[in-house]
Amino acid sequence: MSLEGKLSKLNCMTTRRAFLAGAAAATGAFGNAKRFPYAEFEQRIAKKDFREMTKDVLPTPCMVVDIELFEKNLKTMADYGKAAGIQLRPHVKVHKSVDIAKRQMALGAIGVTAATIAESELMSRGGIRGVLWTKQPASDNNVMRAVQLSKADPTFLFVVDDAAVIAKVEEAAAAAKVKCKVVVSVFAGLTRQGIANGQPAVELAQRVMASKQMSFEGWMAYSGGASHTKGWVARQKKSAEDLAGVNETIALAKKAGLPAGIVSGGSTGTYNMDKDLGLTELECGSYVFMDSLYRAVGGKTDNAVYSDFENSMSVLTTVDSMHHKGQATIDYGNKAMIQLTDEVKGKPWMKLDKQGAEYGLLKWSDGGGETKVGDRVEVYCSNLDMSTNCYDRYYIAKGNQIVDVWPIMGRAGAAQR
Ligand SMILES: Cc1ncc(COP(=O)(O)O)c(C=O)c1O
Repeated sequence: MSLEGKLSKLNCMTTRRAFLAGAAAATGAFGNAKRFPYAEFEQRIAKKDFREMTKDVLPTPCMVVDIELFEKNLKTMADYGKAAGIQLRPHVKVHKSVDIAKRQMALGAIGVTAATIAESELMSRGGIRGVLWTKQPASDNNVMRAVQLSKADPTFLFVVDDAAVIAKVEEAAAAAKVKCKVVVSVFAGLTRQGIANGQPAVELAQRVMASKQMSFEGWMAYSGGASHTKGWVARQKKSAEDLAGVNETIALAKKAGLPAGIVSGGSTGTYNMDKDLGLTELECGSYVFMDSLYRAVGGKTDNAVYSDFENSMSVLTTVDSMHHKGQATIDYGNKAMIQLTDEVKGKPWMKLDKQGAEYGLLKWSDGGGETKVGDRVEVYCSNLDMSTNCYDRYYIAKGNQIVDVWPIMGRAGAAQR
């Protein structure tokens, strides 16, 4: 045999030995789990064929929803609404998923709340009726789209807080021969929007009433400052203060002969107090998944932890490298919206830190010794709206098994605007 032949045979043997050693190690690392056919991953998702698809085989970082906890959250809120006699129009900015909106509707929601015209279009085109868009159409682009959506879906509602916007909408709606459902946004503690309460708000509502192109549907009063106020009693006080002016407006409007209409607002933090403060419907969003910051605001029964709803969604991440004491590099970095306030599921002694666009850090002073390269770690994120905006799908898990995949719609780019 020539030298070349001998070398090639030797190479083959070494490669084969290395391969077998690698395979043995891999079998250990993967336990006895069947090897998943990774090449078929996307085809299987498309066919909703989830055989052997466990959390272990998912590409990371990715979002995983615990279906049992998620369904429990939906039911808790729906049951509360029915028992308390307040309607639900849950906010979709948190999940951006028609699959989830449909489940909320099936449990009795009267519609959904959306932050952008794009979210409103996506939901309405996905078959969701009663979409309330909570930002007024200020640009010509948004005016035209709000009018077009009102034409395509007469159940669509949007807010205004400015007479100039009403004039623009009126002109565009007249040209399109459409009657738009309009809600007046009033100040409820957040300086980002809402006309001043009292006479200015009533006059704006009268302006809507006077238009042939609009129907006055009621009021939107989102007390965002109350939502994360720590402690249930303090939160209730803040919500009451924020809504006091709104209630004066409603009383004044009644005297002026305006129809009652809806009073929409509230949040996950204030859901069980706002009925008594005058709201007719709740725009809660975060309760479907909950986030680490919300858990810290305290509940009615437990002042330390807000446990009315469970953390049902986590970001699954992988330990990519470990060469320094007390830390591990994970693939949950800035692009994946890592936040220092995020929490590591089941490992409260671990803290998170940033390390770059595609890299994050797990840090611990003790207790992290069992961590090794390739480990999967789950993280509860801090700001759901921002985080879900970075991912394209939810993997729906029952225990460790994936049972469905739901797309996250309009999370970035053109569909977001
Ligand atoms: C107008 C409006 N309503 C309701 C909510 C929902 O609040 P949460 O996610 O705290 O339940 C938000 C959240 O930012 C909001 O902007």
